[in-house]
Amino acid sequence: MERIPQHVSIIMDGNGRWAKARGLERVKGHIEGVESVRACLEAAVEDGLKYLSVYAFSEENWNRPQEEVMTLMELMMKSMLNEFRSFMQNNIRFMVLGNRARLSEELNAAIDHMMEETAGNTRTTFIVFLSYSGKWDILQAMKKAQAQLSPEAFQALELPDFDQYLVTAGIPDPDLLIRTSGELRISNYLLWQTAYTEFYFTDILWPDFRKPQFREALAEYARRDRRYGKVK
Ligand code: IPE
Ligand code: IPE
Ligand code: MG
Repeated sequence: MERIPQHVSIIMDGNGRWAKARGLERVKGHIEGVESVRACLEAAVEDGLKYLSVYAFSEENWNRPQEEVMTLMELMMKSMLNEFRSFMQNNIRFMVLGNRARLSEELNAAIDHMMEETAGNTRTTFIVFLSYSGKWDILQAMKKAQAQLSPEAFQALELPDFDQYLVTAGIPDPDLLIRTSGELRISNYLLWQTAYTEFYFTDILWPDFRKPQFREALAEYARRDRRYGKVK
C-alpha cells in the first residue's frame, strides 16, 4: 500500500508533435490530449491516489500564437464543464492553481463555481495548473508572506512554514512527476515542491498516454528507493 504514491503530477507534453505526425492541426492533438487526462484521472481514482495534478498551461505558454492560446483556453473551459457531473458522481475535488489574474473573467467564474461545488468531495483531488510557473509561485509566496507577517515574523520564517504561502498550500508535494514526449526538463513547473519528487520520463506523446502507460509509471515508482539524503 505504501508503494502507491499519494500525489502524482504530470507535465502533459507532445500534443503538437502527435498531431503533426498525423498531418493534423496542433489543436487536434490538444483535443486528443483531453482524453488522456480523463483516462489518467480515472486510473488515479480507481487506484486510490489522493492527488492527481497536471500542468496544462505554463506562464510561458502565453507566448504561443494568439490563436493557439485562445483555442487552448476554450478547450479548457469546455472540458471542465463537461467533466463537472463526473466529478460530483465520483467524489472528486477539482482545483485550478496558477496566476488566475491572467485568465478571462468568464473562465475564472466557471473555475470558482466548480471549485466551490466540489470543495467537499473527498475521494481524489484533481488539480489543473493553469498559467502557472514555479518561479512565479515562489515569488508570490514571498510577497504574500511579507504582506501578512510583521517584519520580525517575516525575518523569523522557517522552511516548513514557507509552504503555506505557495499556491499549493495544504497539498502534499508530488511523490512522482511524469513528463511525456521525451523532453528531459522541468519547464518552470513545480520547482519548490519537487525537491524530493521521483521523476519519470517517457518518449510517449501525451495523447498516447493512457491507463496502461499511467500504471506502468506507478509500477516504476513502486520500484524506486527514496532516501531523502539519508543512509538506508
Ligand atoms: C503540451 O503539448 C500542451 C501544452 C503545452 C499546452 P505541446 O503543445 O507542447 O506539444 P508539442 O511539445 O509542441 O509537441
Ligand atoms: C510544458 O510544455 C508546459 C506544459 C505541459 C503545460 P512546453 O511544451 O511548454 O515546454 P517546453 O517549451 O518544451 O519546455
Ligand atoms: Mg511541448
